[in-house]
Amino acid sequence: MKTAVLAMAAVLSGVVLQGQPGVAASSAIQFDAARKLWLLTTGASSYAMGVGADGTLQNLYWGPALWRLADVPAPGPRRDVSSFDPRQMMQREEYPGWGGPRYYEAALRLSRADGNRDLVLKYVSHKISGNDLDIDMSDIRDDGLRVTLHYRLYPEYGIVRRHSTVRNGTAASVTLESAQSAVYNLPLGDGYFLTHLTGRWAMETQVRREPIQEGRIVLESRKGHTSHNSNPWFAVDRGSAEEESGGVWFGALAWSGNWRITVEQTPYRQVRITGGMNDFDFSYPLKAGESLDTPAFFAGYSGNGHGGASRLMHRFENERILPGGVKAPVRPVLYNSWEATTFKVEEAGQKALADKAAKLGVELFVMDDGWFGKRNNDKAGLGDWFVNKEKFPNGLGGLIGHVRGLGMKFGLWVEPEMVNADSDLYRAHPDWVIHFPDRPRSELRQQMILNLAREDVKEHLFGVLDKLATEYPLDYLKWDMNRSFSEPGWPDAGAGEQRKLWVKYVTNYYELVDRLRAKHPGMAIESCSGGGGRIDLGVLQRVDEVWPSDNTDAFDRLKIQEGFTQAYSPKVMSAWVTDVPNMNGRSTPLAYRFLVAMQGALGIGANLNQWVDADFALGSKMVAVYKRIRATVQTGNLYRISSPRVGDMTANAYVSQDGKQAVLFAFRHAQQFNTPADPVVFRGLDEKAVYRVEPVVDGKLMGQWKEASGAWLMHNGVTLNLRGDYDAAALILERVN
Ligand code: DGJ
Repeated sequence: MKTAVLAMAAVLSGVVLQGQPGVAASSAIQFDAARKLWLLTTGASSYAMGVGADGTLQNLYWGPALWRLADVPAPGPRRDVSSFDPRQMMQREEYPGWGGPRYYEAALRLSRADGNRDLVLKYVSHKISGNDLDIDMSDIRDDGLRVTLHYRLYPEYGIVRRHSTVRNGTAASVTLESAQSAVYNLPLGDGYFLTHLTGRWAMETQVRREPIQEGRIVLESRKGHTSHNSNPWFAVDRGSAEEESGGVWFGALAWSGNWRITVEQTPYRQVRITGGMNDFDFSYPLKAGESLDTPAFFAGYSGNGHGGASRLMHRFENERILPGGVKAPVRPVLYNSWEATTFKVEEAGQKALADKAAKLGVELFVMDDGWFGKRNNDKAGLGDWFVNKEKFPNGLGGLIGHVRGLGMKFGLWVEPEMVNADSDLYRAHPDWVIHFPDRPRSELRQQMILNLAREDVKEHLFGVLDKLATEYPLDYLKWDMNRSFSEPGWPDAGAGEQRKLWVKYVTNYYELVDRLRAKHPGMAIESCSGGGGRIDLGVLQRVDEVWPSDNTDAFDRLKIQEGFTQAYSPKVMSAWVTDVPNMNGRSTPLAYRFLVAMQGALGIGANLNQWVDADFALGSKMVAVYKRIRATVQTGNLYRISSPRVGDMTANAYVSQDGKQAVLFAFRHAQQFNTPADPVVFRGLDEKAVYRVEPVVDGKLMGQWKEASGAWLMHNGVTLNLRGDYDAAALILERVN
């Protein structure tokens, strides 16, 4: 037992294993050369693969951490079960080509110039370097086509990143018809459940859970962007996982275009999750020597339920995905003009709002839509990124100086990829939009999409944004995208290459953001797409914050935020306090609205001209409280104690990484029959510690006590005086010993 513990510690701490003949180990990757087996181990999980007698690369294990490669058996020989059930269907291939008798979702499908479409991939060689493993595969007829499977381990987060590179080393052209990033095979068996995020505009990231049975569940976007309807994230469990218990396998794609995650159960009780770019309308010709990199598909395993899985993701995103990583500052409190002034922005009005925002303690003032071109409504102006001189006769300098003079940073809204027909840009370049000749150019919100796959469009947009950020050194850019694709034509590309648009658009969008960041490192960027239409790990690698939804109704937000935090960190979850009545005609108290928004990156989007003194007093207090707790909220550990989908209360606790501070937020939806609120039982505290308990809203904590042990708080809980409809409370806990 002692030896076992030592050996595992050696693997996890990066020490090369001794005394296991033939086993070469990097920090977390072990390889058994004689048996051609790999064991990839992180703190929370292990992943094992091996090469079968037929050369196929097969998954052998994915689950809780292992430490002994010798335990893992090599892929055994298989026999056909019947002439309808070939042995290939029983193997858990890591990255199957579409070839031979394989009928499940293929990782790679292609067509050669002569029409030959059979592809059977076999292991060729591999390279281990630190936490990276690259495995080269080729077709059984070694014709020069190479597929490299990339694995990168993040041992301290329990996460693996996988993607593939397909290289056409043949002499002729090859057309890819589906090029997936990775296939994740789950342990053999049935009874699995899939949790995923669904929605629509103003109703994003709604949690759904359903059984996985024989057949396929397809999560996807065909809209050109990530989409509001489904988010590229999944969690799978064996039917018994709960919020804080049970094994959960989870993953997320880093792709902001058409994507697909196919969850399938074969008739042989094999659950396979294949993810990457959507093969819908996909066709990607590779000339001799060309290659295609597929997007990263991250995955992990947690033994601590859905809460454990999302905490791994949050820390991983904060520290390894977001720009700046661990060194990135906490997000500032922002004010945004959109709901207050819509398109009616002008210098005096924005200055007046800025004065009021500063009084509340806001740190970043963002002017939204309406400042440019002939933008008085959504019918005109997109594309013309010059300051509207009727609204700002002297440019933006006056407003920016005023905002900075108040001690705030300044941010600006743009929607670079879009154009209105009524714009100088469209009149000059009607051919720049995505379209098929002689077909309608469907307008949504009166706008069309510039074909960012084109190099001239990309360079034009870089020029425009660079000029803007140079002329007006901006602290923040809110980058919006307010429609989905339609008629995805790219006439100049030629018939065979046109469908590269789906891929090129996204890679050029990424390049544009990356170049802007490199040239203007002080400018933070927000990703918005009419709310949450472009939120995924691809965009999160290059932006600082995202806008989860145009729905700012605080009660609706509880569900949107519950879904959002399954996959994404509260640090990037922009959340505004806005006016009531809101979207549903519902009015919630201002304290309730603040406490809902304080669970992410707090913003204010209300019309401050209508606020009375009492609102300012409460608002200033809440902003000050938020500044005290925001590091805990944004970078701590989130425990979703009570789901808004169940019962009449929602409660979430955030515990700082060092355990010194915790914050509880609790919301009562609708009290009935004079029933007191159930006690809220904490999670994530130290039983032995004593905490000072401070209510944020007076009169909400029942009982006179000021201190309590972690044991009491986690076993008995706290009773909160939550009454009526839409009542809210928050407690700040400071560890005192
Ligand atoms: C949609 C965004 O989600 C809103 O916040 C706002 O920026 C509008 N676009 C502006 O047109």
